[in-house]
Amino acid sequence: MKRKVTKAVFPVAGLGTRFLPATKSIPKEIMTLVDRPLIQYAIDEARAAGIKEFIFVTSRGKGALEDYFDHAPELENSLRKKNKKELLATVKNTNMDSGAIAYIRQHRPLGLGHAVWCARRLIANEPFAVILPDDVIAAEKPCLQQMVEAHAETGGCMVAAMEVPPQKASSYGILDINEDMGSLVSVKGMIEKPEEDVAPSNLAVIGRYILTPKILSNLNQIKQGAGGEIQLTDAIAQEIEAGRDVYGYRFRGQRFDCGSKAGYLQATVSFGLARDELRDEFTQYLDELTTTRRAAQ
Ligand code: G1P
Repeated sequence: MKRKVTKAVFPVAGLGTRFLPATKSIPKEIMTLVDRPLIQYAIDEARAAGIKEFIFVTSRGKGALEDYFDHAPELENSLRKKNKKELLATVKNTNMDSGAIAYIRQHRPLGLGHAVWCARRLIANEPFAVILPDDVIAAEKPCLQQMVEAHAETGGCMVAAMEVPPQKASSYGILDINEDMGSLVSVKGMIEKPEEDVAPSNLAVIGRYILTPKILSNLNQIKQGAGGEIQLTDAIAQEIEAGRDVYGYRFRGQRFDCGSKAGYLQATVSFGLARDELRDEFTQYLDELTTTRRAAQ
């Protein structure tokens, strides 16, 4: 029987320099879409996919992230006394069970592959998921859940995939397609951030992975790759070279690149419009804005 995926790694050690000065004192994963931090979207998606153990790979200055998942007795008591049941439920939903969450430090920013490798002892000998919280995916069925279901059939390694414009290939890991089966693609190679003219396709890796523990031993001896970093893509590509199965999964949903300002703003608008309590007022404002094109002074 295939082992269930119950552990997920959240690499959150990045400095978030694209959002300075805000990220001088706020971890970028705490930045909000409407009223929920980016990391909450990632956690909720993981929970929906059956994840029970949450492993955060952090760095210095990420204390606010650890506090966010802690119980807040004073706040909870005050909401209880005022009978604010909905808010109390919202706050309690952010609490994690004791022992369900672990924090590992990545002491040096050596890349995504290195961040995942830092969690190797906690992952041990099991398949595991990786979620990059910068990639926020709005979907009827959460993306990782779609992948866990597909993975139950295929086994092997699986990465979320999405078509991107060819000129954007150099921002992503790009798949070399062996067989295209629709939502599932079998992969014969993977290249991290190729230039447009050498990209094997325009099918890009998006920040959701289901990986076998073999990836961890590959990461033990992987050399610096694109950008001088230890790349997760290279460790997955090694699996293909060793003759093991790697799949791309074209998820159903809309992905926002919240690691960029434009993507973050688009997500804010989109998630704002999805809220019943905001929709009318916000739509009216956006209509006015498109006619007048008045920017903030
Ligand atoms: C990372 C991965 C890349 C993937 C991307 C998805 O890159 O290395 O393969 O396509 O996430 O968002 P980063 O955006 O961290 O540079």
